[in-house]
Amino acid sequence: MAKSEGKLPSTGLGSERSEWFRGHFDAAQEVVDLCQSSGMDLAGKRIADIGCGDGIIDLGLVVKAKPAELVGYDLNEVDTSHLLAEAKAEEGIRELPAELSFVKSQPERIPANDDSFDVVVTWSAFEHVADPEALLRDIRRILKPGGVLFLQLWPFYNSEHGSHLWQWFPDGFAQFDHSDDEIASRIETDEATDPGWGAMMLSEYRALNRITLDDLGGAIERAGLRVSRLKLITNDCIIPASTAGTPLSALAIGGVQLLAVPA
Ligand SMILES: C[S@@+](CC[C@H](N)C(=O)[O-])C[C@H]1O[C@@H](n2cnc3c(N)ncnc32)[C@H](O)[C@@H]1O
Repeated sequence: MAKSEGKLPSTGLGSERSEWFRGHFDAAQEVVDLCQSSGMDLAGKRIADIGCGDGIIDLGLVVKAKPAELVGYDLNEVDTSHLLAEAKAEEGIRELPAELSFVKSQPERIPANDDSFDVVVTWSAFEHVADPEALLRDIRRILKPGGVLFLQLWPFYNSEHGSHLWQWFPDGFAQFDHSDDEIASRIETDEATDPGWGAMMLSEYRALNRITLDDLGGAIERAGLRVSRLKLITNDCIIPASTAGTPLSALAIGGVQLLAVPA
């Protein structure tokens, strides 16, 4: 999630799980606020979340924004029993809301009808998507005329924590400072970390699409959408010599929240 609190996100494991739930449940408010301040009230709307992960943000959105329906799409199935157990423990929620459902998606095809959603949300997913432009075209397809895309991406690959490996490289820029072998070795020899978690994070690091803000802007435009609101996520950082040759804007722009509408 976004580092807007000036603090790195938790790992989502063990005792940090509660912090993970809170961070994601509360992230929904950032979606509500940006949409509302652009004149889009989410109440009563049909919302799709693309790359919904464990569904916590979606639950937060249903509770906070009262949409008519919210469908979370992901390549992986959402464990709704686990989501409910966490919702009970953290929020006292006894049943998942009837307005909330989850559907397994395909990499470039969202199983939804054309012109069927008022709002599409995507949070911390686009740096993981294999073909961002193809997915954006499909998002454009399922948006109703007059619909809105809310897209959050943090962190961009070239930025301080773009490797997503802050647990092992808290100083950042590991993707410039270290070879792939060095990164793998640091993770694999860390006895304090569950090996399954380490292997999953390494594999996610290797699969990052390395998209930049300008790549994303170009893909949005080619997909038939127009950016109508842009909020950069950035912070003060120390730039190592290993980044020489990389544009300063790519190093400095940590992430983005944006709204886009059909062009
Ligand atoms: C880092 S997780 C973020 C999950 C959630 N939005 C959150 O913030 O907790 C990225 C998610 O995007 C999903 N994903 C990647 N490519 C996708 C695609 N083409 N369509 C749908 N989901 C995708 C992954 O399966 C993963 O669950």
